[in-house]
Amino acid sequence: LPEPGVVALTGADVAARLPRPGPESDKYRRGVVGVVAGSDRFTGAAVLTVGGAVRAGAGLVRFASSAEPVARVRARWPEAVTTVLAPGEGIGEVGRVQAWVLGPGMGTGEDAHALARSVLGSDVPVIVDADGLTLVARDRSLLRREAPTLLTPHTGELGRLLGVPSGEIEAARLRHARRAAEELSVTVLVKGSTTLVAEEGRPVRANLTGTPWLATGGTGDVLAGIAGAFLAAGMTCYEAASCAAHVHGLAARMAAGGPGEGEAPVAALDVALELPAALRS
Ligand code: APR
Ligand code: MG
Repeated sequence: LPEPGVVALTGADVAARLPRPGPESDKYRRGVVGVVAGSDRFTGAAVLTVGGAVRAGAGLVRFASSAEPVARVRARWPEAVTTVLAPGEGIGEVGRVQAWVLGPGMGTGEDAHALARSVLGSDVPVIVDADGLTLVARDRSLLRREAPTLLTPHTGELGRLLGVPSGEIEAARLRHARRAAEELSVTVLVKGSTTLVAEEGRPVRANLTGTPWLATGGTGDVLAGIAGAFLAAGMTCYEAASCAAHVHGLAARMAAGGPGEGEAPVAALDVALELPAALRS
């Protein structure tokens, strides 16, 4: 980390920040995460995002989407409370949540846009990922809100947000992460081999706990769910994003195995399933 203004958290730094239930805790105080993800075309993203939030320790996960992803989520995560939304419907009837995760696999059509508008219209923190970022890139007015917002783009998504070719982003990720945070008045987590968390007025946090085995479909969806659990527990976007990146990378490394025992490929669901072990360590 030779760059000025860039810092990294140690495992001890993260451990000290992680939410831990006390004797007075109940599921609401531990944090209710709302997840709006998936569509009848993309059901896996919903399962992975909810899985990240459940396994990272959310008090309760509320999931709202169309019928097919709801059926898949109920089958895989009976812990989640689900709501089937009609086409074009917003999150009005979903119970109170402390943080939303919006976007993975939700699609980018008119109904998705209306749904994104209803989530971003809420007065609680929102994480925007994947298709949610495409919607925001197309209609920046979605980001005009009072509550905190965390965007979690990979390089291509950041390029679309800023209107810059992804090659230029790749050549200067740090500068573009800072610029996005300033221009859009949000916290930004930029994904890649090193993950960067930028927020105006704070040092950029870099995370190096990951492994190239993370470069596989769906791991980003799990990360969004983890950050959602931490945000709903009361962490700020900056802390939730940097701790989620740390724990996500660690879980992936543990799932991959090694050193000494050899490494094996990791699937996105493995990362979610390894989270308790990573948190324990
Ligand atoms: N080393 C370490 N970590 C890596 C590496 C690497 N070489 N490459 C990727 N990663 C990590 C990233 O930091 C991030 O945490 O893997 C994760 C990948 O997340 P995404 O880029 O969001 O990919 P994915 O989860 O497959 O996205 C699913 O969302 O963005 C859309 O179009 C995308 O359909 C896709 C969907
Ligand atoms: Mg992604």
